[in-house]
Amino acid sequence: MRDNKEESPKIGERLLYDRFMDIARNRITTRQFDPEFVVPEEHFELILEAARHAPSGANAQPWHFIIVREQAAKQKIADYFVEEQRVRARLKMKFPTPDYSGLATAPGFIVVASDFRYVSAFPVLRDDDSELNKMYIENAERILLQSVAAATMSAHLAAAALGYNVWWVTAIGQQQAQDAMRPLLGIPDELSILDIFCFGPPKKPIYKRWKKDASQITNWDRFNPDNFMSDEDLDTWIKKMRHKVMYKDAKNID
Ligand SMILES: Cc1cc2nc3c(=O)[nH]c(=O)nc-3n(C[C@H](O)[C@H](O)[C@H](O)COP(=O)(O)O)c2cc1C
Repeated sequence: MRDNKEESPKIGERLLYDRFMDIARNRITTRQFDPEFVVPEEHFELILEAARHAPSGANAQPWHFIIVREQAAKQKIADYFVEEQRVRARLKMKFPTPDYSGLATAPGFIVVASDFRYVSAFPVLRDDDSELNKMYIENAERILLQSVAAATMSAHLAAAALGYNVWWVTAIGQQQAQDAMRPLLGIPDELSILDIFCFGPPKKPIYKRWKKDASQITNWDRFNPDNFMSDEDLDTWIKKMRHKVMYKDAKNID
């Protein structure tokens, strides 16, 4: 740990930034892994060490990471996800669904859980079910989710820094899957499973997905109206672009 500012990078120094960007740019999703690869225990520790240092609302650190090593458990969880996609197809959700059987191939498999009771640790009125407090509770839930996402992202970047490809999976819709997964992993009912973090060497060639230009997300002083999408624009994007940005190499997007 750095004890003083002297050892920190100088402001504006590019060396560490450029190395960091190498990792950020090359954190790339894959949805099928080499199932033969065995992740050394140390790598799990290094990855969760990065998660441990993440920021969180009220420094509550409302996260738990369950490292799943048993193949039978991975397979069962993969099956729940595959089943959820069948439910979504029946509901005609029209989401371009990936093949969730790939979950069972992940050598690195970490279930991310959170404790929603921590919502009370954020700015809310205790024991108050008024409309006013609903607003604060919604905000507190966002604080909790952003906190867990911050730790999860640190873990993903650490995995990328170790040379792995990653997969962030949140598609756990059905309550039954949550209820079935908890006992499978010994997770108490008070906790919610938020997502699965898979990593490992990819089975198929990876590709860099489309990212917005800096100008599309950067607004100086005021929101740039050029960056606003109307309802119609968004609808068109979902119809025409979504599947491409999810599954195509950015180079092949027209
Ligand atoms: C909050 C969040 C939820 C995600 N959920 C899923 C998911 O349920 N299933 C999936 O296949 N990918 C999921 N992803 C991965 C995205 O599809 C992927 O990050 C995106 O297509 C961009 O690709 P890249 O990671 O290679 O940059 C999720 C990513 C994030 C950050």
